[in-house]
Amino acid sequence: MDDKIINVENISKIFNPFPLRKKERGPGLWVANLVRLRRIKENEIVALQEVNLFVNRGEIFAIIGPNGAGKTTLIKILSGLLYPTKGNGTVSGLDIIKDHEKLKSIVSFVSASFWMGLEWQFTAYENILQYAIMLGVPQDTAKKRIKEYGEFFHIDYFDKKVPALSAGMRQIISVIRGLVVDRPILYLDEPFVSLDPEKRMALSEVVKTLANKGKTILISSHEFTDLDVFHPRSVMLYKGKTIGYGFAEELLPEKGIIPYSLRLSEFLPDLESALFESGIIACKVPKELIVLDRVFNVRLLVRSERVNDLINEILKRKIKILDIKKESISLKDAYLYRVNNEVLN
Ligand SMILES: Nc1ncnc2c1ncn2[C@@H]1O[C@H](COP(=O)(O)OP(=O)(O)OP(=O)(O)O)[C@@H](O)[C@H]1O
Ligand SMILES: [Mg+2]
Repeated sequence: MDDKIINVENISKIFNPFPLRKKERGPGLWVANLVRLRRIKENEIVALQEVNLFVNRGEIFAIIGPNGAGKTTLIKILSGLLYPTKGNGTVSGLDIIKDHEKLKSIVSFVSASFWMGLEWQFTAYENILQYAIMLGVPQDTAKKRIKEYGEFFHIDYFDKKVPALSAGMRQIISVIRGLVVDRPILYLDEPFVSLDPEKRMALSEVVKTLANKGKTILISSHEFTDLDVFHPRSVMLYKGKTIGYGFAEELLPEKGIIPYSLRLSEFLPDLESALFESGIIACKVPKELIVLDRVFNVRLLVRSERVNDLINEILKRKIKILDIKKESISLKDAYLYRVNNEVLN
C-alpha cells in the first residue's frame, strides 16, 4: 500500500529582498515602508508557485528543472531550513513549519555546494566523522559506515586535507558525509556534479539499495541519464511553477510520441525544419541531441502515425539511414519537449 511520507500542498515561496522594517516606530516608518512596499512588488522573486506533490515511503522521487527553477528552495523547505510563504506540508508526519526543528533531525541533506562547508584544516575522513558525531551518530557506528562507503566508492584519499582534493573528490566526500548520517529521508540536490562515470554509477547503486531498504529519496539533477536509471516519478519545475508531474511518459503532454535514435549520413537544418513543420516530429531537435561522430546520431520525438513519413522524408533527400532504433520516453525527452516547445516559444 502507498504510504505518503512527504506531502506538499500549494507551497509558494516568495523571496523578498526588501523586507518591511518592523522594529522601529514613528511616522517616518510609515513613509519608509510605503516606499519599500513598491520596491518589494518590483523586486520580489517567486521561487515556488503553488507546488503540490507527494512522495511515498521508499520511493526515489526526482525534482527537475533548469537553473533557478526552485528545486533547491523546495528541498530546503522540506528540510526545515526555509519557511514557505504560503501552503502546507508534512514530512513523516511532521509539519514543515511548526515542527521544522524536529524535521531537521530526520532528514539528511546533501547539496552539490556542501563541499564548501568542509573544514579545510581537517582531512576528508575527519570531516565525515566530525559531522556524523555532531549529528548524533555514535562514533563506532560512524567509523564502520565510513569504512564501508570508503571501500564501496574506492576512496584512497581519506587522509588528505580538503585543499588537496579534486572537485569530484570533495563532492563524493560531501555525499558520503550525508550517507553516513543515515536518516530515513535523504535529499540529494545535484549529487552527481563533478563525479566521473564510475562514481556516478556507484552512487546510483547506493541510492537504489537505500530505497529498497525503505529510505525515501528526493533527488535533483540536470543529468537526466543519471535519473532515468531510477525511472522515477518526478516534478518538473520551471520558474517556480509545476509544468509536469509523474513518470517520464506522463510528463509529455502529448500522447503517441515515440523517441527514435537514428544514425544518418547527414542531418541538416532543412531536414529538421521539414520534419517539424510537417508535424512528423513533435519537438525541434536541441543541438545537444545531434552528435556528429563521422555520421550524425540524432534522437527524434516522432508522432507514432508518422514514422513512414519520417523515413520517406529522409530517403528522398538521398540520406542514408545507417541505423534506426525505437526507444522509450526518457526524462530528458519530456524535459526538452516541454522547455523547448511550450515554455520558451
Ligand atoms: N535566499 C534567496 N534570496 C533571494 N532569492 C533567492 C534565494 N534563494 C533562491 N533565490 C531565488 O529563487 C529562485 C529559485 O532558486 P533555487 O536555488 O531554488 O533554484 P534551483 O532550481 O535550485 O536552481 P539550480 O539548478 O541553479 O540549482 C531563483 O530565482 C533564485 O535566484
Ligand atoms: Mg539548486
